[in-house]
Amino acid sequence: MRKRRLIESFYNLTSVLGSLLALTAFGVTLSLILMDWVSGTESPYLGILTYIVMPVFLMIGLLLIPIGIWRTNRRQAKTEARSALPVFDLNNARHRVTAVVFTVGSMLFIVFTSFGTYHVYEFSESNSFCGETCHTVMSPEFTVYQHSSHAEVDCVTCHVGSGASHYVKAKFNGVNQLLGMITGNFERPIAAPVHNMRTGEEICLTCHAPDKNYGLTHLRKERYKVNKRNSKYSYDLLVNVGGQSAQTGESSGAHWHAANRVEYAPADAKHQVIPWFKAIYQDGTSRTYSTSDAGDPPAERVVMDCMSCHNREAHSFLPPHIAIDEALTSEAINPEVPKIKEASLNALGSAAKASDKKTGLEQIEHEFRDFYEDEDPDLLESSKTEIEAAIQAVRLIYDLNYYPGMNTSWTSHPDNMGHFFYPGCARCHDGQHTSQEDGKVLSYDCNACHSIVAFENPKGEVTSDLAGLEYTHPDADEEDWIDTGCFECHGP
Ligand code: HEC
Ligand code: HEC
Ligand code: HEC
Ligand code: HEC
Ligand code: HEC
Ligand code: HEC
Repeated sequence: MRKRRLIESFYNLTSVLGSLLALTAFGVTLSLILMDWVSGTESPYLGILTYIVMPVFLMIGLLLIPIGIWRTNRRQAKTEARSALPVFDLNNARHRVTAVVFTVGSMLFIVFTSFGTYHVYEFSESNSFCGETCHTVMSPEFTVYQHSSHAEVDCVTCHVGSGASHYVKAKFNGVNQLLGMITGNFERPIAAPVHNMRTGEEICLTCHAPDKNYGLTHLRKERYKVNKRNSKYSYDLLVNVGGQSAQTGESSGAHWHAANRVEYAPADAKHQVIPWFKAIYQDGTSRTYSTSDAGDPPAERVVMDCMSCHNREAHSFLPPHIAIDEALTSEAINPEVPKIKEASLNALGSAAKASDKKTGLEQIEHEFRDFYEDEDPDLLESSKTEIEAAIQAVRLIYDLNYYPGMNTSWTSHPDNMGHFFYPGCARCHDGQHTSQEDGKVLSYDCNACHSIVAFENPKGEVTSDLAGLEYTHPDADEEDWIDTGCFECHGP
């Protein structure tokens, strides 16, 4: 028999198995960390294994050692006249070795745990953990986020505050979400956390200056008609973004709301219907606006902040018209091919109804072929390359913006910027909300927020006027557009 170097009571099944388990877990963790470094990729599954699963085994193993020793001693104490706790005698060589092994072991363990805990913390806050671990669940938000203007901002910067209390709160939520995932009991689509987000001041103003005056922002819109020639026309909008002057405190434009206080009471969970709101000006006076059928002022009020307008800055699911117009402008879809916008809209519309992504992607090709078989079969040969490219472009648009498994697309998550596809600004600025104090109406005047300073028609002729041009609706037959919000006809 080999000479035993450690105290006698260590040699029991539980403690020996415990040390084997701990050593194995430790070895595996080390090699996983090595793999992580060498591969250089952020894999959420490797992360979970390395920083969450393996440490659990390591801990169990380490715990088993003293448990085994304690049980052995207790058993011996019953039969022999001995105390239940081990007796340590540093004059005994075996006891000395045991003491050294355990002291050094524990110190190493503490060093590795602090390193490990930090990694567990870091990993559980990483974009890969937030976005990829629950792959299907978060995939819509994670995918479009990577194509957003905030792709470099970590998920946790917006979704989890700093400090221990936020961390614990978020992890509790996380455990709930994990349970939901395992049981398949989660919302499809995931609802926007409009009630749970911290304020714009806490999130956005850590990077964006509160008292910046943006003045007039220029947006150029290039749009294509649904006709044979995909007629392109474009217009230049000067949006009065404004802001607050750092020197005088004066505020104007769309960012007036950020400098003054506006409280509102939504009638629905997504805050798309706002019958009642109140403006509290910097001098302390106020106006209360409501629609004629608003009823009593509600108890629950929301304070307007950055995200009341910029709610989809990190997760924008594009409406078909916008996505296809962008592809036509970049010539990923060639606008020279007759009826290509109509064919693209048609294919995307049909894929949008598919029950899973694979079917949707396949459908796009069939739809293009069927469309041109009916409309102009010669084009399938003469514009073969261009149609093939359009199919690929529409597939890409579909893949990015539609998630059938999660029922997520532009129809599930309204964007509050503008008023083209969703009510947005016109939730309040619709000419229907009147102030109780002096009868002021928050108007839907086309020049209140922006002016159209130039218009280029499909023939390439440009009209411009810095004082603002009147908007002409592209569909000349449509007469009601001026009295109705755009979103009522163009919305989901
Ligand atoms: C710049 C800030 C910002 C960043 C960065 C960000 N989000 Fe969001 N996220 C938001 C806002 C704001 C909403 C609420 C949208 C609304 O009210 O319509 C939201 C909503 C969500 C939702 C709810 C579903 C939905 O589409 O409304 C999920 C899930 C989500 N984010 C996940 C993530 C993940 C995962 C990441 C990182 C990969 C991330 N977010 C990064 C700001 C951000
Ligand atoms: C960690 C810093 C950071 C945070 C937090 C942050 N942003 Fe930004 N944001 C940026 C940067 C940097 C840019 C410029 C990106 C670029 O031009 O590529 C930007 C750009 C923008 C733009 C212009 C987008 C465009 O397409 O031109 C808007 C609007 C915006 N942010 C709003 C917000 C809102 C609303 C929030 C809070 C929910 C927020 N940001 C939080 C850093 C941040
Ligand atoms: C009432 C709605 C509203 C609120 C509230 C609001 N914004 Fe804006 N913001 C706009 C509009 C409109 C634009 C013009 C850009 C557009 O139309 O896409 C804009 C533009 C911006 C831009 C880009 C400016 C440029 O010229 O490139 C940034 C950055 C921005 N906002 C940040 C913020 C931040 C941070 C807050 C919160 C303190 C905030 N916004 C609150 C409506 C709003
Ligand atoms: C929750 C309701 C609400 C929403 C949503 C809203 N506004 Fe307003 N807006 C107000 C109120 C209230 C005022 C102040 C009216 C007054 O003077 O009493 C105002 C004033 C303005 C002004 C005039 C500021 C000035 O110089 O006096 C502009 C410009 C404006 N909003 C643009 C926008 C734009 C652009 C959007 C959408 C991106 C928007 N608003 C969304 C409630 C809203
Ligand atoms: C309360 C503010 C407000 C009012 C009032 C308003 N708009 Fe707008 N509108 C916006 C904002 C903000 C955008 C920019 C959205 C974006 O970032 O694309 C916009 C965008 C547009 C666009 C561009 C659509 C596109 O993407 O091609 C058109 C056209 C337009 N508005 C026309 C009108 C007309 C016509 C009226 C009057 C009937 C009107 N607007 C009234 C705020 C307003
Ligand atoms: C009463 C319904 C209605 C209203 C309101 C309306 N539109 Fe339209 N719009 C149409 C119809 C119908 C078409 C042509 C058919 C189509 O393609 O959807 C059209 C076409 C368009 C197109 C060209 C794309 C195309 O498909 O040909 C744009 C851009 C557009 N509208 C913008 C707007 C804007 C911006 C507003 C608000 C200022 C608005 N519309 C208000 C019904 C409306």
